[in-house]
Amino acid sequence: MTSGNLSRVTILLAISLATWLSATARHVNAQEHRSADEARRVEALLADMTLEEKLGQLTQRTAGEHATFEPDDPESEHQDLPTLIRKAKVGSLLNAHGAEYTNRLQRIAMAESRLGIPLLLGNDVIHGYRTVFPIPLGGAATWDPELVEQAARVAAREAAAAGTHWTFAPMVDICRDARWGRIAEGAGEDTYLGSVMAAAQVRGFQGDDLAAPDTLLACAKHFVAYGAAEGGRDYNTVDISEQSLREVYLPPFKAAVDAGAGTLMSAFNEINGVPATANHLTLSRILRQEWGFGGFVVSDWTSVTEMVAHGFAADDADAAEKAILAGVDMDMSSFCYLDYLVDAVRQGRVPQARVDEAVRRVLAAKHRLGLFDRPYADPEHERAVILSPENRALARDVARHAIVLLKNEGNLLPISDKVASLAVIGPLADDRWAPLGTWSGVGRNEDVVTVLEGIKGRVSADTEVRYAKGCDVDGDATDGLAEAVQVAKQSELVVLVVGENADMSGEAHCRSSLDLPPVQQKLVQAVHATGVPLVVVLMHGRPMSIAWTAEHVPAILVTWHLGVECGRATADVLFGDFNPGGKLPATFPRTVGQVPIYYNHKNTGRPPGGDRYTSKYIDLPSTPLFPFGHGLSYTTFELSNLSIAPAKIGAGGRVEITVDVKNTGNREGDEVAQLYIRDLVGSMTRPVRQLKGFRRVTLRPGESRTLTFSLAGQDLGFYDRDMRYVVEPGVFKVWVGPDSTRGLEGRFEVQQN
Ligand code: GLC
Repeated sequence: MTSGNLSRVTILLAISLATWLSATARHVNAQEHRSADEARRVEALLADMTLEEKLGQLTQRTAGEHATFEPDDPESEHQDLPTLIRKAKVGSLLNAHGAEYTNRLQRIAMAESRLGIPLLLGNDVIHGYRTVFPIPLGGAATWDPELVEQAARVAAREAAAAGTHWTFAPMVDICRDARWGRIAEGAGEDTYLGSVMAAAQVRGFQGDDLAAPDTLLACAKHFVAYGAAEGGRDYNTVDISEQSLREVYLPPFKAAVDAGAGTLMSAFNEINGVPATANHLTLSRILRQEWGFGGFVVSDWTSVTEMVAHGFAADDADAAEKAILAGVDMDMSSFCYLDYLVDAVRQGRVPQARVDEAVRRVLAAKHRLGLFDRPYADPEHERAVILSPENRALARDVARHAIVLLKNEGNLLPISDKVASLAVIGPLADDRWAPLGTWSGVGRNEDVVTVLEGIKGRVSADTEVRYAKGCDVDGDATDGLAEAVQVAKQSELVVLVVGENADMSGEAHCRSSLDLPPVQQKLVQAVHATGVPLVVVLMHGRPMSIAWTAEHVPAILVTWHLGVECGRATADVLFGDFNPGGKLPATFPRTVGQVPIYYNHKNTGRPPGGDRYTSKYIDLPSTPLFPFGHGLSYTTFELSNLSIAPAKIGAGGRVEITVDVKNTGNREGDEVAQLYIRDLVGSMTRPVRQLKGFRRVTLRPGESRTLTFSLAGQDLGFYDRDMRYVVEPGVFKVWVGPDSTRGLEGRFEVQQN
């Protein structure tokens, strides 16, 4: 390059840098200008509001089927919805769907209430709005945060077009007990995976600018440790150490807050004797003082008044005071704030400033969403975006990535196009409801492609497909078994679809058993007894103890509840059009008797082993049926060349870990390389493994890629006996592997500073 060219390039670079800097400055200025304008408008409104109107802003109620539109007794406190809105006795609604309906409610607020403050409309958009994606546990099984973010983005586009401003998602509760029905809604048992998925969903829901018309305000829930409920029974007592609270259950919320989540929801459960909805440690000290969270906290549904049942509040007035003083800003559906805080403020038990602080946060959120300037939805736009072909295509892709190949003896899968006859059997094989899973929003059964439909749409013209339901999902009727056996015997191969209905997991749907319902177990064994090659497709909302199936059936796919594109995604994997690469986000136990069972457990002084006097059951192996992070492929992979540098770091240092991943098979496929560490000795006992990184990569046959992970000293710490976060010197083991039980092993050392 001549000096002349060089100077030209330099000039061009300088110009583009200056352009970028000024654009950034303008953007920052615009943001600062907007937040200054927002603050001015909030303060002006606040100065105008009566105490009753302020408490109305802190009140949310349902606009769903329980809402009343008939003018009821004018003396009643909780009148019909239009009256409540007109009198500014409610600032937010949930369960209102569709541009037409939400506009009707919004017009009352804007045109008929004294100050015309727009309503904040919230809904449970948990895994899709009308285009239903896999349940979040299935999303986590993709180990692909970018894909999960895209799904949340589409959910936001559809819900915002239909008049929703705020989603009560992501649910980020870590759960180590698959009896708990809500394990379906989260990212499973691991804190690191859960944190990555929490942040991805917040980014997807909120987009780059909340004021854009296709965003949703996110709400990380349920704050906090709801998934640690004793016995895996919903709403049950949570009694855990503060170390566990801070090391296992809080980090996904911190990840959501760091990703910019605008709200959190307080949980139903107590935490060590203090309900989450009035817990100063979590709501004030940790969330506000330690994390600097600036958004607002909504209670869960009636969790304010439920503190009376907890025996923590004497009555609703007491509950209201305890909740707002601890840091809950908005009361979902219990009306305690509206009914009792006027007196509490007037009698000095609740400072006016605390009410104003809560109202400021709610009004600021409405401003950030642009509701004052753009309060209405557009029905035309709603019709254009809902359930679009592009949205369905993404739902199919997420579903394919969520599928986990548990077992594939003799490479029974993928099914050859040349198969002459196929039997599709099972109570969920042609079911439209189960694939929607729990919390399916406005999803509709008729939108679902069933597994049978997916297979019929995929097989070649000369393949004969027979179908038999075999039995119901539950119950005792076995009169369908004979037909199922008959159909199996007439076929070359059987695809048997069994598992759980959409209402066998989710809120208040916990199970004391993780087995297949007995009648389905009978079906599996009857079809297996025919000797016809058998593939089991599991459709479920939680890890299941399918020990008999795992022992006897050669090929098993875990498919969760995959959403509207269930059938096509399952057929894509069954026939090899997509090579499964999902991994388990939660441990599959051999039996419920092993629960709680999770990979990142402590070693104890007598770890499970051959010796008689060790921590084990006398009637069961100590290992799980399938471990956290497990998942196979139709191809094979090899990890090699693990390198860790430097070998020694200070507590403030950083270690780079690299590994080569190679596709050693003859088909393109995905591997999820997982990075685990173990702190061998600490002033507190440490887990035998902890996930600290992962990467899902797609490799062509023979292709190799070098992956690099970077760990900072701060990633290696824990809370000591004095609740200080410490990074202690010592040796750390490292593994990079295909699941939580295997991998290349190395070590590095943290040195005393
Ligand atoms: C429910 C759930 C919560 C949900 C809320 C509103 O009880 O616990 O996750 O967002 O009520 O439906």
